[in-house]
Amino acid sequence: MLFRFLLLLLICAPSALSAAPYQAMVVAAQKSAAEAGMAMLEKSGNAFDAAAATALALGVVEPGSSGIGGGGFFLLYIAREDRYVMIDARETSPKLAGNGEVFEQQSSIDGPQSAGVPGLAAGVDHLIETYGRLNRNVITQPAIDLASNGFAVGPRLRSMLEWRSSAFSDMARTTFLAGDTIRQPALADTLRRFARGGRDDFYRGETAGRLVADMKRDGGLIRESDLATYRVIEREPIIFDYRGFQFVSAALPSSGGMTLANVFGQLQDDNLKVLNQSDRIHLLVEAMKRAYRDRNAHMGDSDFVEIPDLLNPKRLQQQRAGIRMEHATPSSEIGNSSDAIGPGTDTTHFSVIDAEGNMVSATLSINYAFGSGYLSPSTGILLNDEMDDFATRPGKPNAFGLVQGSANAVAPGKRMLSSMTPTFVIGPDRTFIVGTPGGSRIISMVLLASLGFMLDETAAAEWVNAPRYHHQFLPDEIQHEQGAFNPDVANELQKRGHKLKLMKRRYGNMHAILIERETGKLTGIPDARGEGVAIRQE
Ligand code: DON
Repeated sequence: MLFRFLLLLLICAPSALSAAPYQAMVVAAQKSAAEAGMAMLEKSGNAFDAAAATALALGVVEPGSSGIGGGGFFLLYIAREDRYVMIDARETSPKLAGNGEVFEQQSSIDGPQSAGVPGLAAGVDHLIETYGRLNRNVITQPAIDLASNGFAVGPRLRSMLEWRSSAFSDMARTTFLAGDTIRQPALADTLRRFARGGRDDFYRGETAGRLVADMKRDGGLIRESDLATYRVIEREPIIFDYRGFQFVSAALPSSGGMTLANVFGQLQDDNLKVLNQSDRIHLLVEAMKRAYRDRNAHMGDSDFVEIPDLLNPKRLQQQRAGIRMEHATPSSEIGNSSDAIGPGTDTTHFSVIDAEGNMVSATLSINYAFGSGYLSPSTGILLNDEMDDFATRPGKPNAFGLVQGSANAVAPGKRMLSSMTPTFVIGPDRTFIVGTPGGSRIISMVLLASLGFMLDETAAAEWVNAPRYHHQFLPDEIQHEQGAFNPDVANELQKRGHKLKLMKRRYGNMHAILIERETGKLTGIPDARGEGVAIRQE
């Protein structure tokens, strides 16, 4: 009986497989990086080669957002096997960080000690070796050219530089504040070594030696053995159904997929399409509040901590039953999120599909804008500050205001909990590749855009560009962009007890692709908030 039920589910579940051949497409935050990906497709590479080249190039031309000094998650769909997999290239905690005592005295945001062991080089190398067709030299070349020839500083990067340059090390200042063009010769050399030696060079070879020497001199915590033991991990994505749509999303150590599954699990029996705007927003915010509470209190690296059965349908039904339509539940009534231990311009997301239907949804990060602000002089690598994604200070909010629990405490070799949510949403006849930067707000952004796709009441560009709103349990407020609520809806939400907090700036930088599987028609949707582009193969 159970077998028949499962079989039925398999037959009925939408599959990303399609009869139609596609034109290939890359949608990314910077044109030169999307072009790097497209150049691989032109050389008969596949979506995975394109993703590797785009990732490396983004690390050069968006130095404030991602790079080989950071990490991230690549969600893949391998068409010929009809299989999904997540490449986990998340940073790990260096041994010297112990249980995080260093952050009682030192910052987990600024300076070399805030860096986790970078994962991106291992992730890209694994992607190329396991799934690509082209060789590493070809794939790395566009990034090398961009680093050595330089690129012009655009308005977005300029404003990030103005905001964050006070945290820069000397070398970061020399490199990024030299003028209207940024050249990164030391990084170009490191990329050349990566092209030749791949992860062996980065984690055990010359680059490793240089990086560790810089760390020792300048107060960083990363040592030879941290690099030598870094491993990229292939993980099963989080897969769940919501009212005829299948979600494939990031697994732990990203909280993204589980938090999305938590929200949609609570709302399984609600027909959002028939609700008026105030009711819909109220319900979504209440479900977010409960799902983020679970995230913050219980999630961490599942290789280190036991994660409770948060997605048990009975439990989710109970959470739904606790939502009152007429009144917001104060977060303090739901519980707390740090039980045991007492703006979205950085990070990057891109989406790729190739002619065979292979897909990549990748979100990559160095955490805060320009990561730790520390640029290793001998390698040109700008190091991340992902240590701040751990619960480094008991009961205190991190840079994104998240108050988190012991499941996400610092431990040697552990991966810090992430909100990065690269996702595929597969409907009866269309597929949506989606993701965005934006710290803790990433999950609610992917949620709102996916709802746009599923409810399909507006043009596709609106799913990405509509003003956003967000609740993350603590602080107990709805954070929103200008224009997210009309005055009547805002009044109604306040009447129900919600506190509204207008964000000073718009947030996120989503890069999505809509695929109509029957016809093969593709719509690239770059976020109007940023400078991203969609490039289609001619
Ligand atoms: O992994 C995370 O959740 C964060 N390090 C992502 C940071 C981010 O998106 C910054 N962008 N605003």
